[in-house]
Amino acid sequence: MRVLGIETSCDETGVAIYDTEAGLLAEALYSQIDIHAVYGGVVPELASRDHVRKTLPLIHDVLSRAGLEIHDIEGIAYTSGPGLIGALMVGALVGRSLAETLGIPALGVHHMEGHLLAPMLSDEPPTMPFVALLVSGGHTQLIEVQGIGDYTLLGESVDDAAGEAFDKVAKMLYLPYPGGPHVAKKAESGNPDRFDFPRPMVNKPGLNFSFSGLKTYTLTTLQSLGGIHEISEQDVCDIARAFEDAVVDTLIIKCRRALEQTGLKTLVMAGGVSANQRLRASLGPALAPLGASVYYPAPAYCTDNGAMIAYAGAQRLLAGEQDGPLMDLRPRWPL
Ligand code: KG4
Ligand code: ZN
Repeated sequence: MRVLGIETSCDETGVAIYDTEAGLLAEALYSQIDIHAVYGGVVPELASRDHVRKTLPLIHDVLSRAGLEIHDIEGIAYTSGPGLIGALMVGALVGRSLAETLGIPALGVHHMEGHLLAPMLSDEPPTMPFVALLVSGGHTQLIEVQGIGDYTLLGESVDDAAGEAFDKVAKMLYLPYPGGPHVAKKAESGNPDRFDFPRPMVNKPGLNFSFSGLKTYTLTTLQSLGGIHEISEQDVCDIARAFEDAVVDTLIIKCRRALEQTGLKTLVMAGGVSANQRLRASLGPALAPLGASVYYPAPAYCTDNGAMIAYAGAQRLLAGEQDGPLMDLRPRWPL
């Protein structure tokens, strides 16, 4: 089945065509980062307007790259939540209108299911069951995955998501939006032995996370050095490194615990923060003593993209699922 996937939940317009027999045929991504960067975060109205401008041209683009006509598409998947309501509406309206016109099924897909299944797009995908660590700007969750749609939440952040904490620390350090990659870049030159940041919630039993205390600890450290206008470039790098190490360690400790608790031997990491190089480099070796293998998506499939929505939608459409007559968008939607 050849499925067109449309992702417009936040600040990237992503479109892709996934064929359940031949794999990914074409994809295109347009990032709105430059539009929002001046505001230090995503401006919802500007996001919706830009999705309106970009979605149809990107669909034309992927069709021509795949050498296909719109009539060759057999199903349409679009992100129906969670996300910004105006932004979600654009992808949903385009997707559902096209499906209606072509007489093919459409299906709203959960954005986090897209992230969760993104590692399945790699040449050597993991086999289910596995434990998934979903780490994005809005979510930090550990999920037991038994099959498509068979998900059990093992633990999640009780406050900020890991990516949100990266973004807030970046703001404190006067680094550009979105902050994660910039904090990671500064951390590369940071001294890992200068500060010892706490590893939140690791001494409590269970699989929940909390990153807001770590954010406050970062601010207090910054203030103890005289504030952002007084500190040196090296101070910024050292703080970034201490923060990143604390997040990475905390995620690893909870992943280890989740594998021990479930008895599973495969860990799959996904979402924007899984692009973090230190996390990618540390997780495999840390879990190897448990006999566990670690999978993560190629960097391009860690952050938002159309391919993951096309893939997740294709699995469900192939199984016969499709939208009912009413449009059902969910800005907040637990997986
Ligand atoms: O999955 P995503 O693209 O969007 C959401 O669904 O939230 O994730 C975006 C988040 C942002 O918070 C961004 O700062 C973070 O992922 N991120 C990173 C890195 N690249 C993106 N965080 C740490 N290190 C990175 N290299
Ligand atoms: Zn996302």
